[in-house]
Amino acid sequence: MRQRLESLLRAGVVDFPAVGVLAEAPAGDPRGSGAGASSTGTASGSPASRSLRAGAAGSTVSIVRDSVPSESSTEGAARSSVANVAPAASSAAVSRSPHPAAQPLSVDERVAALEVLRSEVCACALCPALVQNRSRTVFGVGNIAPRLCIFGEAPGADEDRQGIPFVGRAGQLLDKILAACTLNRDDVYILNTLKCRPPDNRTPSEDEVENCRGFFERQLQILRPEFICCLGATAAKALLRTTSTLGRLRGRFHDVAGAKVIVTYHPAYLLRNPAAKKDTWEDMKLLMKEMGIALSSE
Ligand code: URA
Repeated sequence: MRQRLESLLRAGVVDFPAVGVLAEAPAGDPRGSGAGASSTGTASGSPASRSLRAGAAGSTVSIVRDSVPSESSTEGAARSSVANVAPAASSAAVSRSPHPAAQPLSVDERVAALEVLRSEVCACALCPALVQNRSRTVFGVGNIAPRLCIFGEAPGADEDRQGIPFVGRAGQLLDKILAACTLNRDDVYILNTLKCRPPDNRTPSEDEVENCRGFFERQLQILRPEFICCLGATAAKALLRTTSTLGRLRGRFHDVAGAKVIVTYHPAYLLRNPAAKKDTWEDMKLLMKEMGIALSSE
């Protein structure tokens, strides 16, 4: 069964394996394992959530979601409760340095720091072309004590409408990739390089990336993931501050302020080039191995 699946993957015939039993997700459920981005669910159903929850500062944290999709900083965020949180760090101050503070922030401090950052993002007008074009900014969503952050490029039309990253077709494929890794959206935190949609989904300019750098670096500094998965060249080049090609960056871990960073193809690219799915699956297997997450298809 496993060999068959692997050979189908290599041939680009199938997508990523579904969780556990290698079954396809039910029709109409693009999130594969089910929990996905529901506004009230928890991560406890995900096979990998136990190992993911051990991440932040060695604390045990039940899912805490930062999934506020609107422009307001005080809207009714779908945030579930927090249990067994580690003692608070001494200060909620977040420096602009990409390097993490010596001590991770407590969950309460993360919530507060992310709210401050979110309101700055909402008010940002540094890129006139993007500000004119956007319906709303797209900050980030997911577990705010994540072991793994998914780092994308920029919002598309669906994301711009909903204020949530990766909710369009590429997002549905990302959900499948996560499901194949026994993860769901609540296990990870998803953010983009740019917080505003570029007109016609064009590639972000270097200036736009630099204008947003303070935001995504601070966001990562607050979240302090052990692992970051860059989706596509724009995200990889921005985070790693490199001009190297995606092909050269794949297949190994890079260090960014103590986080292990892996680079793979963007799901939108995979939709256009399904043959590359097998390469992304190799990247994800490498990542899961390093994270200590067992895949049943292995
Ligand atoms: N592509 C991205 O890089 N990010 C999104 O949020 C959606 C599509």
